[in-house]
Amino acid sequence: MESRLKALEEKAKSEIKKADSIKVLEKARIHYLGKKGELTKILRGMGAIDAAERPRVGRIANTVRENIENELDKAMDAIKGKELENRLQLETIDVTMPGKEIKIGRRHPLTQTMDDLKDIFISMGFEVAEGPEIETVYYNFDALNAPKNHPSRDMSDTFYINENVILRTQTSPVQVRVMEKTKPPIRIVSLGRCFRNDTPDATHSPMFYQIEGLVVDRGITMGDLKGTLEVFAKHFFGPDTLIKFRPHNFPFTEPSAEVDATCFKCGGKGCGVCKGSGWMEVLGSGMVHPNVLRNCGIDPEIYSGFAFGMGIDRLAMQKYGIDDIRLLFENDMRFIDQF
Ligand code: DAH
Repeated sequence: MESRLKALEEKAKSEIKKADSIKVLEKARIHYLGKKGELTKILRGMGAIDAAERPRVGRIANTVRENIENELDKAMDAIKGKELENRLQLETIDVTMPGKEIKIGRRHPLTQTMDDLKDIFISMGFEVAEGPEIETVYYNFDALNAPKNHPSRDMSDTFYINENVILRTQTSPVQVRVMEKTKPPIRIVSLGRCFRNDTPDATHSPMFYQIEGLVVDRGITMGDLKGTLEVFAKHFFGPDTLIKFRPHNFPFTEPSAEVDATCFKCGGKGCGVCKGSGWMEVLGSGMVHPNVLRNCGIDPEIYSGFAFGMGIDRLAMQKYGIDDIRLLFENDMRFIDQF
């Protein structure tokens, strides 16, 4: 029995030495020292030996158990240490590695243009007004003195939601909403989305942006309109910019004019941007039609006003040299990042 115990100890020790994981060690512990393990099996034979011999063999058995336990503990510690070392090795941080770039957003060229426009007009004493994108036919056309047969009312030009409700085709209805609610003096700009039933191409988008301006007070003249637009053009396009008025027709203004500015690229000499003319078409404007003032409860005998409207997308395209309006709405970061 004594030799069987010794043999067991040796066998266990050599197995423990070879173990390379905690799992294998746990298995060895159960195999040798467990309730149904090898040591128990041997000790079951105790009854067969001399009673006088039993205490001595018992002591040997205890020593064998202790030795195996010690070996197991030692091996366990060694493996745990090694596993920790491996983990630390895997988790080391290389502080010399370059960091991950954090993308910081930037303002879209249209947002930048709108912010510039607001700055310019607010500095001239204008307030920013807002109106709904879903409008009624009354505010978009009727109140603005558009004749019943005006072509812009057509389904092929305007998105109708029903007979009376449309997506606004211009920011001009904001004029009416402001004049209905506010007594003169009025000085507002309104910026926002407009919609027209256009097929997208390089210069058309069914959704685009406009800025509308309106000033109403006693004694407002075309001179005020000209002065205001000149200050705007010099601030927006550059201090040497000149503007000129061309007679035009809008239902809501009388007289009406389209305004051109000298090309900011060539200064008026003629280049690719202005297609050789030296001028860029910038906006529509005029003196508010007496019918419009009356529709809003303002007496045209006492008050007069001017108004203007511009396409913000076109302004941005002119200023930043963008040749296709669709680029503004595709949200391609490679494009937007350039501005
Ligand atoms: N609403 C016009 C358009 O969409 C632009 C415009 C022209 C606005 C003259 C005005 C104005 O306020 O006076 O084409």
